[in-house]
Formats: sequence, structure tokens, C-alpha cells
Amino acid sequence: MSADSLNIQKNVDLSAYNSFGLKAIAERFVTAHSLENLRNILTYEKPRLILGGGSNMLLVNDLNGLVIHNTIKEKRLIAEDEDFVWLRFGAGENWHECVIFSIENGWGGIENLSLIPGTMGAAPIQNIGAYGVELKDVFDSLDAVRIEDNTLHTFSSNDCQFGYRNSVFKQALKGKYIITSVVLKLRKHPVLNMKYGAIKQTIESLGLEEINIKSISDAVIHIRQSKLPDPKVIGNAGSFFKNPIITKIHFEKLEKQFPNIVHYPVDDQHVKVPAGWLIDQAGWKGKQVGQTGTHKNQALVLVNHGHATGEEIYAHAQRIQADILKVYDIKLEMEVNLIA
Ligand code: FAD
Ligand code: EPU
Repeated sequence: MSADSLNIQKNVDLSAYNSFGLKAIAERFVTAHSLENLRNILTYEKPRLILGGGSNMLLVNDLNGLVIHNTIKEKRLIAEDEDFVWLRFGAGENWHECVIFSIENGWGGIENLSLIPGTMGAAPIQNIGAYGVELKDVFDSLDAVRIEDNTLHTFSSNDCQFGYRNSVFKQALKGKYIITSVVLKLRKHPVLNMKYGAIKQTIESLGLEEINIKSISDAVIHIRQSKLPDPKVIGNAGSFFKNPIITKIHFEKLEKQFPNIVHYPVDDQHVKVPAGWLIDQAGWKGKQVGQTGTHKNQALVLVNHGHATGEEIYAHAQRIQADILKVYDIKLEMEVNLIA
């Protein structure tokens, strides 16, 4: 295979390919539109970066080597029984379009994950989650090509080692596989999930008559649009840090100092604390520093005010991390993938 026949482009500006809108030049850039095409590309060159929708990455530098933009498309019912359907989606499908497709067919399970930006293929990487549901709840399996030897492998849910904003693809297998398709198991008779109180309230306030997967999706979309900045208007990558999980002992100490601290139980010995609350209370919410800062409605979302560089956003993230460590003795872990 030659670079010409694969249509490899040179010196491509990635500004339009990442939701922070950061300028970074890819030395070489190619689109993989099918499994076969991807495997041909891999015989030519191994990638420096796999790019989906670019909505969970911080590009800090220009990139030497090859960026592969995954656009593999497929939406197919592959099996069904009385209660479930198994759907195979290409890794390059837009996540939200797959949610809408499922809702239109009456299949339940991912309606709470409406409007999450990005691609199907990136969804397992951090086990996307929102409003009481995570990808792992509907995940059946995925196919991925091992970069090292161009072989195709199937991963079960166990193989993926899903956790909160985590999977084996962010740990031991980081950078080793390219996900090409994902199979989801959805319900023909949906079980509605309204653990998140705001969903029911929003359905009522929007005057939606029935509670079903469509109205849950509409409510989630409404809530998200009221809280989270639209990357088309202001560059961001959603939550920049994970919500930290701390010990109960640590939490009880903090509670004495900060009686209003928001928290959620995890198990007998741990609680989760919203990073947005910590950053907000430490005085960073809506604060602009140069071209970056935190969003005025959501302190957990770092933003690009127009001309920020990746380095500038990263430096700001480190300032926030240092401050949160000082104030609460909590180490915030980045959720966004640092591409440096
Ligand atoms: P990219 O940013 O392109 O890639 C992310 C990482 O995965 C990179 O390391 C990349 O190399 C790797 N990767 C991508 N595709 C593949 C592939 N096919 N094979 C192997 N590796 C791959 N996330 C949530 O979980 N919940 C939310 O509620 C949420 N809300 C958000 C709101 C906003 C406004 C934004 C901007 C982001 C939000 N996110 C949320 C984060 C983001 O939408 C998800 O992480 C999403 O899955 C990223 O998809 P992507 O295609 O854009 O991934
Ligand atoms: N809060 C503040 N100030 C802020 C932001 C939040 O006090 O500036 C408080 C809120 O009042 C609330 C708590 O913190 O009591 C949690 O806030 P929110 O409900 O907005 O959710 P979050 O914990 O900030 C998480 C996910 C989101 C997901 C939502 C809904 C993480 C890191 N983030 O956000 O995911 O959409 O819950 O389920 O787990 C993402 O991963 O990019 C993302 C957006």
C-alpha cells in the first residue's frame, strides 16, 4: 500500500477535530472508513494517535507520525430474542445518533446517555456514563485490531475491566488496540432509569405527558444543555477531572471543615465527592486565566475562551490540581486524555 492509495494527508491542522478547538498539526493524517481500510493503513504505518470525535482529549503539541481518524460506519441488528436485541455499531458512528436510532426503534438502555459527544468506538475507552447509567450496563462485546500485529480480537465485558471512567484500554492496553465495532444489548421492553431525581422533575416541567425512553432522552438533553457548554460555542471536553473517591475517614475530617460538602456513598469505606463542588468552593468557578479557565455554570469543565493553547489549558489544570490538594488533601485525576 502506498501513502497515495491510502489518501494520507500531510500537515493537517486538528482544530476542527477536537472539541477544545486546539490547534495541533498532525504530520500525517488518514481516515479509516472500514475494517479492511484500517488494516491496510496499519500495514503501511502504526499510528501515533487514534482519533474519534476528539471530545475527550487535550492536544498539547503538534503530532509527529500518523493520526488515524476512525469513521467506520455500521448500525445492524445481529440477534434478538423475546426480551433483547443485540446491535452492532461501527466504531466511527456518532454516539448520540446511535442513541436516537435505538429510541426510534423502541429499544431501551442508552436513553440516559443522550447527547454525549463523540463516537461509539471511544465509548468503551472510559466507559462513558451519565444520569445513572454507564456503557457497561448495556455492553455485550467489542472488536478491536491489535496494532502490533494487525490481528482482530473480540473483548467481552470482563475483558474490558470497566470501572468508573475507566477500562483496560486506559490501563494495561492503553494505545495497543483500535476498536472497530461495539455490540450493545438493549431491551425490547425498556426498564426506565430515573434514579437521578432531576430527570423526573424535568419531564414534568417540560410538560411531557408520558414517561418513556423518548421523554427520558428529552429530559437528559434539556438538563445537559442547561449545564454544559456546547463545544461549538466554547471549546471544552466535558468534565476535565474524575470525581474523586476518598476514604470515609478523610471525608469525615473534611465534613468538619466544610459542613455542606456534597458526597455520594460508594461502599462502607469510601465516598465520592464531586470535583465540580470542590473546584467551585475553592473559588475557581467561572474564573478566566488568559485564554482558559473554568466554565461559569460548571467548575469541572475547563474551557478554551478562543485562543488557548493545549499547554495553557494543561498548566491551568495543574494549578487547579495543586490548589485542590492544598485545600482538601485530594489529588484530582484527569478524565480527559492528555496527548503530549
Ligand atoms: P476521542 O476524544 O476522539 O478519543 C478519546 C480517547 O479514546 C483517546 O485516547 C483516543 O485515542 C481513544 N480512542 C478514540 N477512538 C478509539 C478507537 N476506536 N479505538 C481505540 N482508541 C480510541 N463523557 C462521559 O462519560 N459522560 C458525559 O456525560 C460526558 N459529557 C461530555 C460533554 C461534553 C460537552 C464533552 C465535550 C464531552 C463529554 N464527555 C462525557 C466526554 C466524551 O464525550 C466521551 O469521553 C466520548 O466517549 C469521547 O468520544 P470521542 O470519539 O470524541 O473520543
Ligand atoms: N457542583 C457545584 N459547582 C459546580 C459544579 C457542580 O457545586 O460548579 C455540584 C452540583 O451542584 C452537584 C454536584 O456538584 O451537587 C455534581 O454536579 P453535576 O450533577 O453537574 O455532575 P458532575 O459530577 O459534575 C458527572 C459526570 C458528567 C455527567 C454528570 C451527570 C464525572 C467526572 N462527570 O458530572 O460526565 O454528565 O455527572 O451524570 O463523573 C464527563 O464525563 O465529561 C461528564 C460531563
